[in-house]
Amino acid sequence: MRNIIFLIFIAILLYIPANIYAQTEGEKINVCVECHQNLEDTLKDAVTNWQESVHKKAGVFCNDCHGGDPNDSGNAMDEKNGFIGIPRPKDIPKICSRCHSDVTMMRKYNLKTDQFNLYKTSIHGMRLFEKGDESVATCASCHGNHNVLSKNDPRSPIYRFNVPLTCGKCHSNKEMMKPYNIPADQYELYRKSHHGKMLFENKNLRVPTCVDCHGTHGAVPPGVTDIVEVCSNCHSVIFEYFKKSPHYLIKKEGMPRCINCHGNHDIQRPTLEKFTGKSMLDCGGCHYPESPAFKTGADIKAALIEAETLLTAGNKDIALVKENGGNSFAIRHLEDDMDNARTKLLEAYSVSHALSTDEIKRRTSEVVSISKNVSETIKGIIKDIKLRKVGLIFTWVVIGVIIILLRQKAKNWKRVIK
Ligand code: HEC
Ligand code: HEC
Ligand code: HEC
Ligand code: HEC
Ligand code: HEC
Ligand code: HEC
Ligand code: HEC
Ligand code: HEC
Ligand code: HEC
Repeated sequence: MRNIIFLIFIAILLYIPANIYAQTEGEKINVCVECHQNLEDTLKDAVTNWQESVHKKAGVFCNDCHGGDPNDSGNAMDEKNGFIGIPRPKDIPKICSRCHSDVTMMRKYNLKTDQFNLYKTSIHGMRLFEKGDESVATCASCHGNHNVLSKNDPRSPIYRFNVPLTCGKCHSNKEMMKPYNIPADQYELYRKSHHGKMLFENKNLRVPTCVDCHGTHGAVPPGVTDIVEVCSNCHSVIFEYFKKSPHYLIKKEGMPRCINCHGNHDIQRPTLEKFTGKSMLDCGGCHYPESPAFKTGADIKAALIEAETLLTAGNKDIALVKENGGNSFAIRHLEDDMDNARTKLLEAYSVSHALSTDEIKRRTSEVVSISKNVSETIKGIIKDIKLRKVGLIFTWVVIGVIIILLRQKAKNWKRVIK
């Protein structure tokens, strides 16, 4: 019995301090926040912005990034209390990754912990740590200092639609890029590219933003070897055909890859003119018009144009029959045929990346024969419709004549009866 009372006593002793601690923790005042919210301008903005951040909710306070003692109102910002003031850019990655590289802490929030290690391998990180260049992006340049938000929050600078502008803040700044001798046009070009238009105008989430090609934290230009991999993450079917092309199979330096024909920031919808064009991104940019390589391109183009032309003609024919009230049941299977041909032609466009005239012709000749068949069948149907129309008119004429004759007869009978 005495033992049990003793145990209860111990339990109460253990419980009380824990409970007191919990209460004071909940109400604990952070003097940094208390004092700064009554200050002005940036000194106050820091608090206002932080109030909205994910960090506030997770209990990340001013002192977690700036140091200092949040309980000591008199000497909160004393160096002796570990206060560091405004962190220098070169110190920021270390401050953030104290928590963000901590696997145990981040598991709770289901966040990755690789940012610092990747950052160190990026051009940004290498320039910062190896050359002490503080113009590059650090964690806070892309995420903000105080209003740090989740990547899923539309207000966040790293929300998918906002990423290009976040990078563009520096990369469109000509003055800033001049010392490095790199262009400052990536954002402008990207905005007008097919990818960019689909992102900004059509809100298409599947097109790449800057970070899909450059890596999120390891921002580096994709190297010559991995450019095809960058594009193929999404254009995998085309890559399969490209792998069969001489450009991929000939193992020499400087062989063309996706960006040699399509560009990188200014990618547009390609047309068949590329096969015979003379610009740097066309076949004629590298191959003389007399060369077998150029001829291969010209042949592929001709085959695709023939197929496209006949396919368009077939579709027009079907539309014509519909306008003229053709039997919709008879047309339906022709429409199915044309859908089939369209699919085959789309496939041929991707197959063109293998640069094999035979492979292309195998597909385009099917498109051609289906389209021709449909057009022929439709000619028959139209002939039928015309014949039927003539027949109909003839029938009405005969009926008309009969009516007139009958009336005539009727008048004669009336006269006879009178
Ligand atoms: C009693 C009011 C008060 C408290 C408490 C206080 N600050 Fe300040 N803080 C100020 C004032 C005033 C300034 C601007 C003048 C200066 O730099 O000393 C300032 C400036 C700063 C700056 C900018 C420093 C610079 O070099 O420009 C940072 C960062 C900062 N405070 C963070 C903190 C943190 C973190 C805490 C808590 C550990 C804290 N403050 C506590 C009043 C306070
Ligand atoms: C997640 C880390 C983090 C937290 C939390 C944080 N700060 Fe900062 N703070 C920074 C960084 C990074 C900078 C800017 C460094 C730069 O501009 O290069 C900064 C800058 C400042 C400045 C200078 C003016 C400015 O806005 O650039 C003040 C003042 C300041 N912080 C006060 C505070 C106060 C007060 C709190 C708490 C409400 C706080 N900070 C919370 C990271 C943090
Ligand atoms: C050049 C810009 C840039 C820099 C520098 C940068 N980030 Fe990011 N960060 C991003 C983008 C963009 C995303 C969103 C990626 C996505 O949508 O998946 C992101 C995502 C994150 C996430 C969320 C990860 C997750 O698992 O969802 C964290 C945490 C983060 N960054 C922390 C950091 C830290 C810490 C640093 C510094 C070591 C840093 N970032 C440096 C641009 C940057
Ligand atoms: C004291 C620890 C700590 C420090 C220091 C810290 N963070 Fe965080 N951060 C967190 C925690 C915890 C979360 C998770 C909040 C949540 O998901 O609710 C978080 C969330 C984030 C997110 C949101 C990720 C997402 O997409 O959901 C970003 C971005 C981020 N932090 C960036 C930074 C940057 C940049 C710095 C440095 C300027 C920094 N953090 C410093 C603890 C910290
Ligand atoms: C705070 C300004 C800043 C921001 C924001 C920024 N960068 Fe940078 N970036 C730089 C600077 C400065 C360099 C150094 C240029 C160099 O070394 O050639 C650089 C270098 C690069 C390079 C290497 C260029 C080369 O030399 O080949 C790439 C790629 C890059 N950044 C991509 C990005 C991407 C993607 C984003 C957005 C997610 C981004 N940057 C955001 C400033 C910034
Ligand atoms: C579709 C993929 C893709 C997208 C999207 C993309 N880039 Fe690039 N970027 C590349 C490739 C590939 C290179 C390397 C070209 C080379 O090595 O010749 C490059 C090069 C760069 C360079 C080095 C300088 C230069 O112009 O060659 C910078 C800086 C850069 N990109 C920034 C950005 C920014 C900022 C964005 C977003 C606005 C962006 N990139 C979007 C693929 C892309
Ligand atoms: C994150 C995925 C992704 C990456 C990476 C990507 N693309 Fe795209 N790309 C798309 C999507 C999705 C579309 C189609 C948009 C639409 O619906 O029109 C597209 C469209 C295109 C088009 C126009 C297609 C057409 O129908 O005319 C070309 C050309 C293109 N991409 C080339 C490239 C090249 C070259 C690269 C590498 C430097 C690349 N893409 C990287 C997703 C991607
Ligand atoms: C030698 C030049 C060349 C190379 C290399 C090249 N393409 Fe193309 N690409 C073309 C031409 C020409 C067209 C337009 C004709 C066509 O569609 O067949 C085209 C069309 C496209 C289209 C739109 C047509 C469709 O089927 O949707 C996409 C997307 C595309 N290419 C992506 C890529 C990717 C990804 C790579 C790298 C794996 C690549 N291209 C490599 C020349 C090239
Ligand atoms: C960036 C330059 C470049 C572009 C653009 C380019 N090629 Fe090539 N192509 C090469 C090189 C280099 C070789 C290898 C020549 C050799 O070693 O024999 C080659 C080889 C070939 C070959 C096989 C070898 C031969 O000479 O017959 C064919 C076929 C070919 N290219 C067709 C095309 C077609 C079609 C296009 C446009 C869709 C095109 N190329 C665009 C550079 C280019």
